[in-house]
Amino acid sequence: MDRILLCRSLFNASVFFARRVGWTVVIGTLLLSNASAESLTDGPVVGAVTDSSAKVFVRVSGPGAVYLEYSTDPNLRFAMQSDVVYPRYRDDFTAIIPIDGLLPNRTYYYQVIVDGQPALSSLSSFIAFPPDDVNTEFSFAALADVGNSKSRGAPSYARLTMDEPRFLLQIGDWDHRDPQTLDEMRLMHREVRGQGMSSGRYFRDFIANTTPLYYVWDDHDYGMNDGDYTFPGKADAIKAYREYFPTPELPNPKAGIWQSFRYAQVEIFMLDVRSNRDPNTEIDDENKSMLNGENIDNGQKEWLFSGLANSTAKWKIITSGVTFNPTTKPADGWGAFTTEWQEVVDFITANNIKNVLVLSGDLHSGGAFDDGTNAGVPEMSVPHSNMNMNDDHPTGITTHTPGTWTSGYIRGPENPGYVLVTVETNPDKLILEVKGVSGDIRMTETLELDD
Ligand SMILES: [Fe+2]
Repeated sequence: MDRILLCRSLFNASVFFARRVGWTVVIGTLLLSNASAESLTDGPVVGAVTDSSAKVFVRVSGPGAVYLEYSTDPNLRFAMQSDVVYPRYRDDFTAIIPIDGLLPNRTYYYQVIVDGQPALSSLSSFIAFPPDDVNTEFSFAALADVGNSKSRGAPSYARLTMDEPRFLLQIGDWDHRDPQTLDEMRLMHREVRGQGMSSGRYFRDFIANTTPLYYVWDDHDYGMNDGDYTFPGKADAIKAYREYFPTPELPNPKAGIWQSFRYAQVEIFMLDVRSNRDPNTEIDDENKSMLNGENIDNGQKEWLFSGLANSTAKWKIITSGVTFNPTTKPADGWGAFTTEWQEVVDFITANNIKNVLVLSGDLHSGGAFDDGTNAGVPEMSVPHSNMNMNDDHPTGITTHTPGTWTSGYIRGPENPGYVLVTVETNPDKLILEVKGVSGDIRMTETLELDD
């Protein structure tokens, strides 16, 4: 029901009751109901963008009616409307609102309407993705490993938006609090994006209102240090995640949050390296898996392999919350799963899958790169966003085993930042830049397309 119809119905109902119980009672009731109108508490955050659709996360203060108005016009003339949704207590009054009918590559402005009232003082916006079959030039950004506090901001967030990325990947450890309960998980998702934390306000003010977000956890935002499928809070972690993030369709949402999406000639495969992982302490043999330790049907390894083999994208980018390079962090990275790591590398080689890149987190580095000599495929370690690392390891990253990287690694404590990936054409290549919070370029790598 649209807003006009809703108002008309309410009015008609009011008149109906007024004739029976008297105008005074009705006017009082209407005043009361107006006083209890709900408000937007969190969001919006946009994700799951395609060339014709998107999803928007919102959270409101209580049971109310919410919808979006959206248009290519910055004044919302000729606006389209989403369906009305009614956020529920059991979902923490969150909602993921789908919108469709978009035109490719166009900027869309949108307003959130809560109980009939515009909730945003200024409109949010995003750019619809291009069709899958085009070859185009664009950039996107990647973040990993955040230290959230009431006082420490996240200037990486502010700086990266100056590069106008078409989307942002957050590839894990968006927080390090290891939430144990559903309520703790929900609070974490709110704080890292706005409420109560200085870094969250950076996200809200610089990223959320312009840039589509794609996020998959690592251990500390999943809820268990060095976590795996045995985490008792796994079902709650998945529930809270699904409440709070607008994601592409999840291949197996009861089991985990791995997902993929496409932007023009690039396909991104975001691994969930926790919820289906065997415990690190198990023997590293063909039975040990980071991707499908429980051997479930429709599992993550099957999804990854068929996705890579069948992808028509020129570039296949895999994100991993932990380092893929098995020479580093062997207690919790892919170095603890070398049999499966070899299986993945062999699958890529045997099926002649070219132009694969891994973006990984977890090192709290200032950036690192391997051309595939040690990692099996080219891999860039995404620097931490803003961690306070003064008391950390003497190696300058969060491991005594930094491993071997063909371009070396940059210490973390003085070097927070982000990765900017620029996709070029004619000739096709990826420019990978590790950038600091002032936009300084600390590392540049180029991957030429292998036809
Ligand atoms: Fe971390």
